[in-house]
Amino acid sequence: MQSHILRIGNWAPDEDSPVFPVGSQPKTLLICPEDLQSSEVIPGHRYIFKTPEGWQEHQIWSEVIAYEMSLGTGVTIPRCLVAQDSDGRIGVLMEFFYGHPGDDHETRFVHGSDLLLRTIRDKKTGRPHGVRTNAILSRRYGVTDAVNWWGEILVFDALIGNSDRHPDNWGLTWRSRHGTLPMIEMAPAFDNGTSLGHEIPDSKLLRPWTEAQFNGYIRRGHHHCGWSAADDERGQHIHHCVRYLDAFPEAGEAMRNVLRFAPLRVTDILQNCLFLGTHSRFTEVRAQFVAELLRRRRMLIGTALGA
Ligand SMILES: Nc1ncnc2c1ncn2[C@@H]1O[C@H](COP(=O)(O)OP(=O)(O)OP(=O)(O)O)[C@@H](O)[C@H]1O
Ligand SMILES: [Mg+2]
Repeated sequence: MQSHILRIGNWAPDEDSPVFPVGSQPKTLLICPEDLQSSEVIPGHRYIFKTPEGWQEHQIWSEVIAYEMSLGTGVTIPRCLVAQDSDGRIGVLMEFFYGHPGDDHETRFVHGSDLLLRTIRDKKTGRPHGVRTNAILSRRYGVTDAVNWWGEILVFDALIGNSDRHPDNWGLTWRSRHGTLPMIEMAPAFDNGTSLGHEIPDSKLLRPWTEAQFNGYIRRGHHHCGWSAADDERGQHIHHCVRYLDAFPEAGEAMRNVLRFAPLRVTDILQNCLFLGTHSRFTEVRAQFVAELLRRRRMLIGTALGA
């Protein structure tokens, strides 16, 4: 796990796109210095530094916790680290998931929104957007494990309460080498910050939540996806997992595996955030709240999926 907040004040901005052009949050594209000795970052590789501000600032921690939680679950998330720039701004540093130094593949990344161009009627909301459609479409493009991937990501998003897996927050990669036929894969699941109660200010966490408050909050959590173009109502997180499992029982094992992490791992991850967060507002009450939210969500999803 990350041992200290990375200082990236001396990292050079990418020559062509210093201000990263996609998405709604402030972010820059940086190159890790060639001579940096670290087991956490890759010299010469590209990173996105995202600095959500104001009421969204807790997304930094949600990104980092989601990344750490994903390890060992079957869900792949680009590495996320807490970093600080030369102006003292704290943000999340996200490793580019393609174009690693020494990789001789050529990789093209295509957003879900481009794959769904013909079906999306409302570009602003990215709707209709159905998980069944996504799984079938991804499989048609040639992603062999597409049905498992969508099952896993539904469970993971339900676990962290991610409501923002819109069609610009997933995609496919085409990877080929020396002109050979490309391998088509699901891109790692990026942009996981809209989760883990990031929108709740610390002032609303000071008094421990009641059972009814937790249950109500979890019940109100919805995935961005509906079911299909014809049935586009956003799915309640846990109901959507059950519906998917009913439709694609072959994804059951992969879906249940997402929940097979040791509870102590969550404690370790949150302790580490508290340790790193000394300078940046990740508080004890938030750590306790996130731990309880994860415990309850995991139990409810597990019961619903027969895990
Ligand atoms: N690890 C990564 N490697 C390569 N590209 C990435 C990575 N993470 C994000 N991107 C690209 O950057 C875009 C913006 O990043 P991200 O979705 O995290 O930011 P955002 O501003 O929060 O977006 P949103 O509008 O969904 O809130 C993504 O849509 C994707 O194209
Ligand atoms: Mg995004």
